[in-house]
Amino acid sequence: MHPDLSPSLPVIPEVSAELWTSAVRVLDANWVGDHTVPSRTLHPHQRSWDTAFTAIGLAYVNQPRAWRDLGSLFAAQWPDGRVPHIAFDPDTPEDAHFPGPRFWNVPAYAGRPARSSTGLVQPPLHALAAWEVYRHAAAHGADAVQQARIELDRLYPRLVAQQEYLGDRRDAGGGGLASIVHPWESGLDDSPAWDEALAAVPANPGLLDRAVSGAAHPPADTDHARYAGLVLDYQAGGYSDTGLAERHAFVVECPGFNAVLATAELALAQIAGVLGRPSEARRHRERARDVTAAIGRRLWNPETRTFHARDVRTGRLSPARCVSGLLPLMLPDLEPDQVDGILAELRSERFGLPAPSHDRTAREFDAHRYRRGPVWINVNWLLRRGLLVHGRRDEAEELRRRLVRLVHHSGHFECFHPEEGGGLGTSAFSRTAALCLDLLADRSAPAYARAA
Ligand code: GLC
Repeated sequence: MHPDLSPSLPVIPEVSAELWTSAVRVLDANWVGDHTVPSRTLHPHQRSWDTAFTAIGLAYVNQPRAWRDLGSLFAAQWPDGRVPHIAFDPDTPEDAHFPGPRFWNVPAYAGRPARSSTGLVQPPLHALAAWEVYRHAAAHGADAVQQARIELDRLYPRLVAQQEYLGDRRDAGGGGLASIVHPWESGLDDSPAWDEALAAVPANPGLLDRAVSGAAHPPADTDHARYAGLVLDYQAGGYSDTGLAERHAFVVECPGFNAVLATAELALAQIAGVLGRPSEARRHRERARDVTAAIGRRLWNPETRTFHARDVRTGRLSPARCVSGLLPLMLPDLEPDQVDGILAELRSERFGLPAPSHDRTAREFDAHRYRRGPVWINVNWLLRRGLLVHGRRDEAEELRRRLVRLVHHSGHFECFHPEEGGGLGTSAFSRTAALCLDLLADRSAPAYARAA
């Protein structure tokens, strides 16, 4: 193990100061006027859950920009409530990112005057982000608090519409969970969690020449043809969600996605409380409990004692043990036995802290390939939240320190080698930078928030 990943190294003040400054610099450089892009090079358009993570960091240093970022994304929300996984920047050329706006060809009703989008979604982390930005408003003065309430009021119905879309139209399995219709919707694009379900998706060789532009370790070509084919199929049905399980080739319940869905309900309960809507707050808490129970019922494997993705078309749980299976730890109402199972998995040789994206002992584990091995800050940030929710303060603190040292040592990369700690994928990555601010602020905020 790399020395900087070794246990119990304290976060020293100079590390915190340097990292804080460099993180703010990354976020400034990736701000394009009314939103933040994940990366100027590899991901030049606004991304749904990246925007949520970014707002969580911006909450400390620039509240107006945090709200503006969320507001820009929701300006691309569809009338049916879905929040697109990419909102395209009209000034960025079509070929800067594949697939670009023309490929997606979304129905006119879904387009906003200035922004076109994809028709897919991503984990709905935005309610939690809005709540976090609001929570930190007080540190920026009375005007910021007043503005935060206005912003919450404006966003609330849109956040609710997003939840209703996912909870109703995307409940393709009829069991109270949202399905994803494409691996990209999980935010864990090439995870082994999809291997089995994806193998049943036809791969059209005609789509093989369209490579992921600039990706350091792009997915295997056949998988990429499947990704493109799934988009075209969903598009051919007008991006409608009716009868998905019967007609769409990839319909999967992801434990990570649904853990975020339930977490969003809990955040909405808090927001509804601030907005003086107690009965709605109650409803959100009930929804969170229902989704939690459905995750426990449908995605838990009592033999592996962890959560797995479920293929709605076959009813089978994926055999892969992926980091997404640990994310239900975020849910306070998870069965104690399931909490214990996740903690055991996390502490086992398969994962460890920080957790890699996939089981280290698995055949498909690949330290260099995006979701098949590398460590991601955002996923570990969610896991840390889970540790805190269940009172594992020491492990949460250890994880915080290791993440901070990892990024300080290697830079604001997209992801990191799970053994050596070196940066992988694109650099100057917004989500990593933003979450570093939150991780640092947990202990050292008073000093550095003022400096920023
Ligand atoms: C990759 C990730 C996805 C993210 C995007 C931009 O595609 O898998 O989660 O939104 O990059 O950062």
